[in-house]
Formats: sequence, structure tokens, C-alpha cells
Amino acid sequence: MKVINIGLLGVGTVGTGIAKIMIDNEALIVSRLGAKLNLKKAADLDVARDRGVSFGKGVLTTNPLDVVNDPEIDIVLEMIGGVTIAKDLILQAIANGKHVVTANKALIASHGNMIFNAAADKGVAIAFEPSVGGCMPIIKTLRESLVGNHILSIAGILNGTCNYILTKITSEGVSFDVALAGAQAEGFAEADPALDIEGFDTAHKLAILSSIAYGMEISFKDIYIEGISHITPMDIEFAGQYGYKIKLLAITKYADDTVEARVHPAMIPFSNPLSSVNGSLNAVTITGDAVGDMMLYGYGAGMLPTASAAVSDMVDIARSILAGSSPVIPIRSFQTDRIRKIPVRPMDELISHYYIRLTALDRPGVLSKIAGILGDHDISIKSVHQIDQKLKGGVPIFMLTHQAKEAEVQKALTKISSLDVITDKPMLIRIEEKNN
Ligand code: HSE
Repeated sequence: MKVINIGLLGVGTVGTGIAKIMIDNEALIVSRLGAKLNLKKAADLDVARDRGVSFGKGVLTTNPLDVVNDPEIDIVLEMIGGVTIAKDLILQAIANGKHVVTANKALIASHGNMIFNAAADKGVAIAFEPSVGGCMPIIKTLRESLVGNHILSIAGILNGTCNYILTKITSEGVSFDVALAGAQAEGFAEADPALDIEGFDTAHKLAILSSIAYGMEISFKDIYIEGISHITPMDIEFAGQYGYKIKLLAITKYADDTVEARVHPAMIPFSNPLSSVNGSLNAVTITGDAVGDMMLYGYGAGMLPTASAAVSDMVDIARSILAGSSPVIPIRSFQTDRIRKIPVRPMDELISHYYIRLTALDRPGVLSKIAGILGDHDISIKSVHQIDQKLKGGVPIFMLTHQAKEAEVQKALTKISSLDVITDKPMLIRIEEKNN
């Protein structure tokens, strides 16, 4: 039987999961591939720890160069993470003519253009399904299944940690810190959880998706990023009373040859299927001009779900090796010479509905001052609600607006904040109605 040799860089959670699937499902993979995937080398700083997997004799090594420089290895799987050593090793593997699979969203978001060019020049595959949405085949869906569609928009829950935290606060009323500790204990938070809760992890994934969806160069720096650390139980409760859930969303839209790319907490109506995606689960909705709306749903993190995506990439590459061809599907689905820079629209130009929570003194004339400023900025109030509860020197006033322009909303909030009747920083959450 033909053998394809695999080298693994990083035997942490996902790396171990890949080894487990390769061993436990070996017969199944052979029957689908018609060849054996052989884990020839696996590099990790710690080769002594028992991972519950029986690696063959001589497979484990502490030297990653044993993997990327081994002339018999066909496919290198990079599961180390980070943007330094992982980048050097991937480039070395590509230079040595090896195909690469990576789960490294931060690396692809920040250096993807250069890595993709290096792989295309060398005629090797670089695959990254496990980098976005864990087990969900979102890259394959965009690159292959929807190849006949103009992608019009993508909206997704792409960070299990944030979704777990928001779900726990909503359903169990636990504090933010307790919920975050739970996500860390479950093992899906990043080593630095700020990457999760401040929205960067989600933005890394959005940068990758918008690049593939529209054939644009990856442009992480242009994404608007806001995390969930400022969201309070009061906002979640109010949202619920008005028929909304609060979710950290990644949103990209294409129109007029410009792209919208933003990550922020959003209020979404209960009728939006993303509102029912709870716990650490991820989901993404895609709108294509031929398919209309479609949705993927599944575990966005975790050992076996993420490893499953890596194995899928590995088998795809192995199939082209066996067919004796270079990679058939372009890295971003578009021909390399068709990849272009597409401008990302400034956040100021966004038109959205908004939720605004103010904390103000409870005295005559306060509401009229606030409403006057909103009116001056062409912001129409849809509903307003004040509750009799002392909070940070005032009382909370909740407002929902009709569609308004982000730049005007920001200017209005700056003016409102400077009123002497306002006692705390305002809260702003964008509302994703279907007609935004
Ligand atoms: N920290 C990420 C999450 C892991 O919480 O979803 C998967 O990318």
C-alpha cells in the first residue's frame, strides 16, 4: 500500500487529537484514501508526557527541524501556534517542497499573504481549515462548495470562549470572571484570554474568511474590533426583554467593490438562528447570490473537532499527491493573479440600529437634553425605558434607535457623555436586524 509521510509540529491539544484520529481511524482513512497516512515525526518540547497516544518508536523528537527537513515527509502539520517560530518552520517546510496544514489563525491573519505566495511559488499546498471554526468546514464551503456564488455576506460566532461566557452570564447569571474561568478550565480559551475576550481571535478568523470569500488580500489591520469585556448582565437582561440575544459576531459584507469587516458584540433577534448557538459552539451564516442563506454549526475548538478539520485538509492533500498533481484548488479559491486589495469601509460609515444605555441623574429635563442631541445627529429614537434603580450615581436609561449612521452616533455619545447630568460612560451595542 502507498504511504504518505506526515510530520507534526506541536503535540499539544490539537496535535494529540490529530495523532489520535490517525491511529484510531486508520482503517477508515485507508479505505477512503487508498493509502496509509504515516505519522513519521512529531516534534514537541515535551516528549515525556503521557498523552494517551502510542507514538511509534523514534516518532517523537524535541527538534522541529527533524520534521521540516526530513526528505521523506510529504505533509507538515503546524500545530504550535504563535507568529514567530511557527512562521519560520512553515516557511522552511515550504522551501523544502512540503505541503503544509496549519491551525494558526493569528499567523495566517498577520502573515498569510506572504505565506500563501511562498506556497504558490513553490507549487505546494497550504491548507488552514482548522484555523477557523474548528470542525466546521467553512474554508471548504467557501473555496469549493460555493465556488459559483458571489459571496454577499458572512456573519458568525467564531469564538467559543466568548460564546461560552455570554451564554453562562445569560442562562446562569454567573459573573464574567467565573464564566471566563469556566472557559479556561474547559480548555478552549487562548493562553492569553485577552485574545478571546477583546475580539482579536475572532478578527483573525474574519480576516481569513473575507480573504477567501472575496479574493482579497488579507487585511487584518482594517478590521474594526471590539470585545465583550464591557458587556454587563444588565445589558443582557434588557436585550432578552426586547427579544434579543447578545453575541460576539464577526461580520463581513461585500457591496460596491468595498468590504465591511467588523467584530463586536451585537444584539440579534431571537428569530436569527445565531441567537440559539450557545456554549462553546460556533456557527456561521453565509449569503451567496445563488444559494441565498446557509449556515454551518459545530464545535469551534477542542481536541478532536479541530483535529478533524486538520485530518480533512491532510487527506485532501494526500489525494492530490496520490493523483500526481500539484494542488488543484487555489489557496483562496481565486487564481493568484486575481487576488487583489479590496478597500475595507471605515466603521464610521456603518448604518445600523443601536442600543444605547446611559446612566443619568433622575431629574426634570434630562431626557429632553439627551433626545435633543440625538435629534441634532439625525438619530431617531425607537423606544426608551428608564428603570428606578440606583446605578453609578444615576439611574439607567435604555434606548433603541432606528437606523442611524455610526459616525453620528459616536459624535452624539461624546456630547451626551459631557453633559453634567450623565454620571457614567455610555454603553453602545449595535443591533443586527436583517435589514441593516
Ligand atoms: N480560543 C478559541 C475559541 C479557540 O475560544 O474559540 C479556537 O480557535
